[in-house]
Amino acid sequence: MKNIENFVSELLSATENAPELLLQDLCAIQQRYSYIPENAVEILASKLNLPAVQIYGVIDFYSFLHRKARGTFDILFSDNITDRMLGNQSLIDSLCEKLDIEPGTPRIDGRVTVSVTSCTGICDQGPALLVNGMTVSGLNEERISKIAELIEEDTPLSDWPASFFVVEDNIQRSDILLDDKIINGSAIESLQKNGSDALLEILEQSGLRGRGGAGFKTALKWRFCRDTDSDQHYVVCNADEGEPGTFKDRILLNSYADNVCEGMTLCAGIIGAKKGYIYLRGEYRYLLDDLEQTLQKRRDANLLGKNICGHEGFDFDIDIHLGAGAYICGEESSLIESLEGKRGIPRKRPPFPVTNGFCNQPTVVNNVETFVAAAKIAVFGADWYGSVGSSESTGTKLLSISGDCARPGIYEYPFGVSIEQVLEDCGAHDTQAVQVAGAAGSTVPAQEFHRSIAFEDLSTGGSFMIFNQQRDMLEMVQNFCHFFCHESCGFCTPCRVGGALMKDLVDKVMVGHATHNDLKEMENIGQIMQQNSHCGLGVTAPKPVLDTLEKFPQIYMQRLANRGFEPAFDLDAALEESRQITGRDDAEAHIEYEPLLNTAGQDES
Ligand SMILES: Cc1cc2nc3c(=O)[nH]c(=O)nc-3n(C[C@H](O)[C@H](O)[C@H](O)COP(=O)(O)O)c2cc1C
Ligand code: SF4
Repeated sequence: MKNIENFVSELLSATENAPELLLQDLCAIQQRYSYIPENAVEILASKLNLPAVQIYGVIDFYSFLHRKARGTFDILFSDNITDRMLGNQSLIDSLCEKLDIEPGTPRIDGRVTVSVTSCTGICDQGPALLVNGMTVSGLNEERISKIAELIEEDTPLSDWPASFFVVEDNIQRSDILLDDKIINGSAIESLQKNGSDALLEILEQSGLRGRGGAGFKTALKWRFCRDTDSDQHYVVCNADEGEPGTFKDRILLNSYADNVCEGMTLCAGIIGAKKGYIYLRGEYRYLLDDLEQTLQKRRDANLLGKNICGHEGFDFDIDIHLGAGAYICGEESSLIESLEGKRGIPRKRPPFPVTNGFCNQPTVVNNVETFVAAAKIAVFGADWYGSVGSSESTGTKLLSISGDCARPGIYEYPFGVSIEQVLEDCGAHDTQAVQVAGAAGSTVPAQEFHRSIAFEDLSTGGSFMIFNQQRDMLEMVQNFCHFFCHESCGFCTPCRVGGALMKDLVDKVMVGHATHNDLKEMENIGQIMQQNSHCGLGVTAPKPVLDTLEKFPQIYMQRLANRGFEPAFDLDAALEESRQITGRDDAEAHIEYEPLLNTAGQDES
């Protein structure tokens, strides 16, 4: 293997020592060496003229970057609640046993590491894992045995069975967005024919709203950006798709990549951008080569590059930036920080990206699905889209359906479809609840299944996870609380501390040690997080707890300890160090803890 100094130097000369490419350089080093060695950091620091401590700060921020060597085979099991429902835990145990390894620590011979990561976006074909960044889906005991064998034989990934790496689109229901095809370049031609004012008008009339979740009007966003005075504008496609249970952008990037690029190019033509970025989540590295090829084909066809489609002065190109395992980087301002090669700490807003985005220049950030819809609206017109859906939510929505149903996968529906209808179509029976919009979304109980998917009712980026009557909803809550605690960027106290306290309290409920006071405390912490967090992550993180406390109180009540108070830790054991320092170990240096009877708790039972 090439020595590290040469590898890093070559990498940096290829990227022209651009500091905003730091994260991309780190991803490449990590991929090559399974960690970021100290001497690599030294070279990066001197060539990019950055303090080493800043580079270490970036490494420590992203969960796919490491300062210490991982195994030659670095395995990360996806650990979303849907992976758990599909039995990932026993598969993790089985692989660890076969490889004789403890989770999280490299094996002594350096061959392999096995640990877990947040949802990898394969919930319809799980359980899944990443091995050296590449996705393996459809895990079962047989596949796990084969993987253990391949690792023991030190078989390079390129010689592993190709079937292991197949990820199907799995489209179960399609509608206008997926069915109605456009010719490459036709949206660009429509812009040239109609002009940017008329095109913005068409987008406005279509009613298109952002598909990343918040539903901001797309035409308005593009207009704000276009009208911000600057000679550099940027287009960014948010392909971070980190919300647990969401995997619809995966299929658009796989089979509709041309439409994504067409939408970005259309946006560039309208706002006057010369450069665009696709921010691709690290978990979707397996899509990278094909996406690069799509970009190259478009350059060859003059759909990207200089004088696009022969239109003098219409220059635009797209680069792909990889994320590195940080959910917060889906939030648009964190994403921009990450694109600039920094830690993904959300910015203070306002100012918004449309005026002060990438490199402080006006920037449009849109979801993958939004760009596809915009491209097609430019070709088929406002009515094609606007006549479908509901009054406040026109068009269709891609749903990523997983959990307890016969046919998980991608379903495209006109907005306004009821939960009932979706459950019937995907073959869900005996459903206890649906989690709409991911971990940050709403827990919908059976009595609310008449509600609809729409911005005016249940708004969603696309995640739709189904739980049948046999499921313990507290396991879902616990999984999400651990997720948010892990994914908090740590910048603000309400989210950093509140999220950790919430996780501990849910764990306490789970083991049957919690009391009524703990439930009140959970509500209290949840409200503090909602009201005081710096960004959307902290604001939405307590939602699974607050929703289930209200709609599924029994999952908490049935586990409450029959006591008024139970300490969160062993008070007497915590005093041991003080006893040793003071040299006292008499009776008065100990605390006797007598559990109190909780009359309120007894009343409940
Ligand atoms: C914690 C957090 C994570 C987010 N993750 C994503 C994501 O993965 N993909 C996405 O498109 N939007 C995500 N968003 C929303 C973006 O901030 C932004 O609103 C969106 O990309 C705008 O595109 P749109 O108008 O097309 O929806 C996230 C927001 C928050 C607060
Ligand atoms: S709310 Fe959480 S994720 Fe957002 S800035 Fe604060 S600590 Fe970071």
